[in-house]
Amino acid sequence: MEVIICPTEERVAEVAAAKAARLARGIGPTVVLGVATGSSPVKTYQELVKLVAAGELDLSEASAFALDEYVGLPQGHPESYHEVIHRTVTVPLGLDPARVHVPNGFAEDLSAAGEEYEAAIKAAGGVDIQFLGVGSNGHIGFNEPTSSLSSRTRIKTLAASTRADNARFFDSADDVPRHCMTQGLGTILDARHVILMATGQAKAEAVAALIEGPVTAMWPGSVLQLHRHATIVIDEAAASGLRLREYYKETYSHLPDWQRLEIQV
Ligand code: GLP
Repeated sequence: MEVIICPTEERVAEVAAAKAARLARGIGPTVVLGVATGSSPVKTYQELVKLVAAGELDLSEASAFALDEYVGLPQGHPESYHEVIHRTVTVPLGLDPARVHVPNGFAEDLSAAGEEYEAAIKAAGGVDIQFLGVGSNGHIGFNEPTSSLSSRTRIKTLAASTRADNARFFDSADDVPRHCMTQGLGTILDARHVILMATGQAKAEAVAALIEGPVTAMWPGSVLQLHRHATIVIDEAAASGLRLREYYKETYSHLPDWQRLEIQV
């Protein structure tokens, strides 16, 4: 794992965007992005918008696959991830909506919808760059603790702590759906590169478990230890539970030239 510790939330976004842009340039305009919802990647998307506007990144033929969707919201609900992805990713980055995919949490047959989503990712050639956040309980996507480490897109029941964390997006905690469709941990592991962003003290325990804990379904993000190209970009507060903090900082400040991003932290 590559662990990059930044002094501020803004720098986390700049570094994550610079890393993604470097990878995307190497792949070309048909890059396939994996996009997460939640607060963590929002500033990174805004940085990508700046790079596109400056002509430093071409996403004109890019596709995108979202990680997850609630089950039980009416279609068009502003907090459905179809709408959130449209608002925060598709429109600002100027992506073609026909090439932006979100799991169909509105389907009558959810297990068929899960299989169709897996097939669509495969047909697009797989995800090149997967953006991720992490839940305070360690979930990635909506793969709650005890999710199978080789799971694929399917329906899950949200943990009570996740529903409480996400209550801020709804009028009341009771309005947060109980179910979701999410790419599985196996699906996420298939992405060629993973960039996970986390900020704030509330993520410190999950970040420590993800990077330095044992690989365990109790902390689903820890499955990223099995990924060959995972970059974790975090601020000091989110890094506060890590034992090897100084090592990660030393590593980043002594990267060989060819690996160095234009941004120092
Ligand atoms: C959400 C999403 C995840 C996200 C996580 C953390 O509910 N399903 O994809 O990474 O929980 O959210 P946030 O970034 O808002 O803390």
